[in-house]
Amino acid sequence: MKKRKILVTSALPYANGHIHIGHLVEYLQTDIWVRFQKLRGHDCRYFCADDTHGTAIMLRAKKEGKTETEIINTMQKSHEKDFAALEIAFDHYGSTNSEENRQICGEIWAAVRKSGIIAERDVEQLYDDQANTFLPDRFVRGTCPKCGKKDQYGDNCECGATYSPTDLIDPVSTITGATPVLRIARHLFVELEKEHKFLNDWTANSGSLQPEVSNYLAGQFLNEPLRPWDVSRPAPYFGFEIPDSPGNYWYVWFDAPIGYIASTLDWCKKTGSDFNSWWRDPNAEIHHFIGKDIAYFHTLFWPALLKISGFNLPTRVHVHGFLTVNGEKMSKRNGTFILAADYAKHLSPSYLRYYYASKLSNRNEDIDLNLDEFENKVNSDLIGKVVNLASRTAKFVEKTGLSQSYPNDNGLFQKAAETGVEIADAYDQADLARAMRLIMECADRANKFIDDHAPWTLKNDAAKRQLLQEICTIGLNLFRQLTIYLAPVLPTLAKQTEELLHDTFTHWDNSSQPLVGTPVAPFTHMMTRVSKEGIKAIIECSKETDAADHADDANAAIQDQWNDSAESLEAEPLTAEKISIDDFVKVDLRVARILEAKEVPEAKKLLQLTLSFGGNERRNVFAGIKAAYKPEDLVGRLVVCVANLAPRQMKFGLSEGMIVAAGPGGSDVFLMSPDSGAKPGMRLH
Ligand code: 2FM
Ligand code: ZN
Repeated sequence: MKKRKILVTSALPYANGHIHIGHLVEYLQTDIWVRFQKLRGHDCRYFCADDTHGTAIMLRAKKEGKTETEIINTMQKSHEKDFAALEIAFDHYGSTNSEENRQICGEIWAAVRKSGIIAERDVEQLYDDQANTFLPDRFVRGTCPKCGKKDQYGDNCECGATYSPTDLIDPVSTITGATPVLRIARHLFVELEKEHKFLNDWTANSGSLQPEVSNYLAGQFLNEPLRPWDVSRPAPYFGFEIPDSPGNYWYVWFDAPIGYIASTLDWCKKTGSDFNSWWRDPNAEIHHFIGKDIAYFHTLFWPALLKISGFNLPTRVHVHGFLTVNGEKMSKRNGTFILAADYAKHLSPSYLRYYYASKLSNRNEDIDLNLDEFENKVNSDLIGKVVNLASRTAKFVEKTGLSQSYPNDNGLFQKAAETGVEIADAYDQADLARAMRLIMECADRANKFIDDHAPWTLKNDAAKRQLLQEICTIGLNLFRQLTIYLAPVLPTLAKQTEELLHDTFTHWDNSSQPLVGTPVAPFTHMMTRVSKEGIKAIIECSKETDAADHADDANAAIQDQWNDSAESLEAEPLTAEKISIDDFVKVDLRVARILEAKEVPEAKKLLQLTLSFGGNERRNVFAGIKAAYKPEDLVGRLVVCVANLAPRQMKFGLSEGMIVAAGPGGSDVFLMSPDSGAKPGMRLH
């Protein structure tokens, strides 16, 4: 087999959050693939780094009164510790804030400039003049210019509209609460359209992408002119200043993927390896493992930069889906926002490594971590089928060792060796689920053999000593074969097996040669069952995790502002009198949609609303919100309504309920809205 040179990367994790089980899908998938290629004898290297630049780190540093470098150094240590705990082994783990990265960014930038596809133009952007910073989209909230919904993000609304933050009505900076001002700054753009033809061809014909990814790019991006990519940010920004554009910094997404190259360079300097043989020699393969949310960065911007600057293009971009836990998005409330560190405190890395492997195909479908299935699958496959083979045989050959020649096993070992070719193919295609299925089929056959020959029934029969040794030699060889196949997934089990059998698995091919005539060490326990307590413990930890630790940067910035004054409470102190739950449930609070809103000409304060509770259930309600809301801004939005308030005859008509709002009155009235997902007619409890 030709020895391949394979460079592998996983997406660089942001330095502003801890590693959680969602991230681990990718790092485990990659680590398993890399370990497999190494075991096959290829020169395979796994590089990663922390992704350190951008506004989020800058704001966090300000908030915590630290330097950015202090923050990213601490985070990097924490990330590396988490990866090690999950047995994720990089050849090098660097940082995008390194001199190597600055150097390669400079080289790529010079090449891109030279190719004539950098354009400069003024961009109007919102600026927070209290925080003295431009505001990325996520740091602005305001009223949607399309539907009028308040408190929407700077670039998109719950109604589905997307827009520019400068279109937002009444924008507010989430950093300081200030009203941002418009400022003009010069930005640098990569005119990607000039590489459209190359990208059409590369994405469709290079064989580097999964078909679903090529189709997605063709349908979403490549069917129209490619928009220029804004690659600079004006000061202040935590990043690298652009050498020929003082006061401007490379946008974090420009320097992040270059971190893959810089991490390689770092490693080459340390180990004396030839850098060009990895990134400039077409004989080297480049494999990126990423999530589907960042596919377009890696399949449009990135190949264009690499091509222009003469680096190798990716051989393959392996795109995976997202993780759900028990069928839902990870959430702290459900105890499913599980940090890697908390997982590792309570459960063995082997369990998650195997479980994810058993779920991950080479498609970019989402995968679900179902905690019941996790427990059952790990216990039944790893303990019940794999480790059990050794625990049912090893102790009977502790004194004799393995037979001198491999006994007749009716072709079992040979069949598993042949299956090994298919298993290797599945691994190589990154279809880990298929590899695990095939391995478990071998395990089933091996267990049937042990069940049929029941070595424990032979142990007291002197005449059957040789037969006992032969059965156990077969059982342990089938076990050894499985642990070689599983070594990329379960490195610890592989090591334990090597110790048990005085063996070394230096190569995948060891799996096709049975081991004979060697001693067997006293059997020691190899793996415990997944405990329910362990699972409970990680759920509890998740609930206790400090939200600020992994809240997104916008949230972190918002939390900084939670220094609420007591003004409202002072104006209206809390009610001393307590009510019973029965009193509360008398109030039938419902989600309702405003179907119609109009002014009542004779009334200064009122708007007339038609509310729907779903179906044909309608209410006419007069609400004192005229000074705060324009009728056209209300139509379509959800509100909360007291549905069983006795109707009240007013001068202008019958009011059949009351919508719930906060605030002292006048223009300071704020309607209550449910979170998205709520439907008209739902009751509030
Ligand atoms: O999405 C993310 O988490 C980014 N930090 C990934 C960067 S990958 C690469 F381009 F560096
Ligand atoms: Zn909207």
